[in-house]
Amino acid sequence: MSFDTLSRPAAITLDEYRARREALMAKLPDGAALIVPGASLTTRSNDSEYPFRQQSDFFYLTGINEPDALLLLLPGREAGQSVVFCQDRDPTMEAWTGRRLGAEGVMAEHGIDQAFENAERDDFLLAMLESRTLLYAPLDHPEAQAIAEEALAQAQKGQRRGKPMLKGWLDSRELIHELRLIKSPAELALLRHACRISARAHCRAMRTCAPGLFEYQLQAELEHEFLWHGGSGPAYSTIVGGGANACVLHYIENADALEKNALVLIDAGAEFDLYAGDITRTFPVSGRFSEAQRALYEVVLGAQQRAVAAVVPGATLTDIHAGVVEDLTRGLIELGLLEGEVQARIDDESYRRFYLHSTSHWLGLDVHDVGTYRLDEQTPRPLEPGMVVTVEPGLYIPEDDDLPAAYRGIGIRIEDNVAVNGKGGEILTSDVPKRIDEIEALMAKN
Ligand code: GLY
Ligand code: MN
Ligand code: MN
Repeated sequence: MSFDTLSRPAAITLDEYRARREALMAKLPDGAALIVPGASLTTRSNDSEYPFRQQSDFFYLTGINEPDALLLLLPGREAGQSVVFCQDRDPTMEAWTGRRLGAEGVMAEHGIDQAFENAERDDFLLAMLESRTLLYAPLDHPEAQAIAEEALAQAQKGQRRGKPMLKGWLDSRELIHELRLIKSPAELALLRHACRISARAHCRAMRTCAPGLFEYQLQAELEHEFLWHGGSGPAYSTIVGGGANACVLHYIENADALEKNALVLIDAGAEFDLYAGDITRTFPVSGRFSEAQRALYEVVLGAQQRAVAAVVPGATLTDIHAGVVEDLTRGLIELGLLEGEVQARIDDESYRRFYLHSTSHWLGLDVHDVGTYRLDEQTPRPLEPGMVVTVEPGLYIPEDDDLPAAYRGIGIRIEDNVAVNGKGGEILTSDVPKRIDEIEALMAKN
């Protein structure tokens, strides 16, 4: 018996993790230190927990995938610039939940300069921050803030004794997020793989789809494929919306039966080594588009293809979105869903009745990945090689009496993931069809 397997890309090397920490430390002012907390387990019900998902910044800087760890970056410290506090080794707990790295494992397997188990944290953590003049910690993390505040309070006591002074703390996130915005070749390989798995999952759903199946059954097909290829599961809640459910942007109930004459919209992506794929396809439950579905689909597809081609260095997501809005608005007028001139319907924003989300977001360790979209309030950020974006226009036609009956309740979105490179864009998600003839051909094989 042969199985469908994909060879996995190389993991990120210890050297790359070290280089990331060094790049971050190089951005800190003299005398500063940085606190990067990992994630903890979250209760799901009673004494069971949600599957663990590491905090992305912490993972980006360490590759450590255990709960309750904390990274300190202490530039210039002779005894080691990177320090991790990690879960205590505990034979009883390890019998229940598996091996823990411990301080030894953190240093040996992750190349961290110095590590301690959490039982020792109180003895060392604040002392290590004592001679620093500025701290960086994430503003959205109460525990890291508490550490920063405690270090400040302690420094104020020390001031009376004439010691060097910690003067305050700043939000750390933008420093890290600027680094994460540009993906390395190794990260791109992992994203490519997450996208490849995601594309297979979408093909599987297209092949399996049939009238009478339930939305959750297509979800099962998709998530089977994610796990089969070694993904940790979906990178975000899988959306399978049949008929008018496709018009609910974050429809995740996936509870209804798929009707013969409807379209189904699937927005689903695998997570692989914590990197996200994020694909949307919309296709007919029966395998054949109706005339009205086809007409609306071609409008979205045309806008999407033009937008994908516009992902090149120097372009901006603002301009790409503007192009999409123009294409969609023109299509809406041609189909009789809007009236008048294209520019007038853009200016009065009446297109937003059918298209109210933006066209793109960054993609990486987080599905809505980090990094600012503007250089300042007026200036959208130009795309650069190493950035990875989604391109995901859609049209969602409300079931309102004033609209042509043939289009009511149709929701269509087409989403690809594109890596900006030196020449233009690399489409990471082209293994799943989006042209009507290709979709119909794949579904006909069913
Ligand atoms: N799946 C979330 C998004 O497309 O942004
Ligand atoms: Mn999506
Ligand atoms: Mn997306």
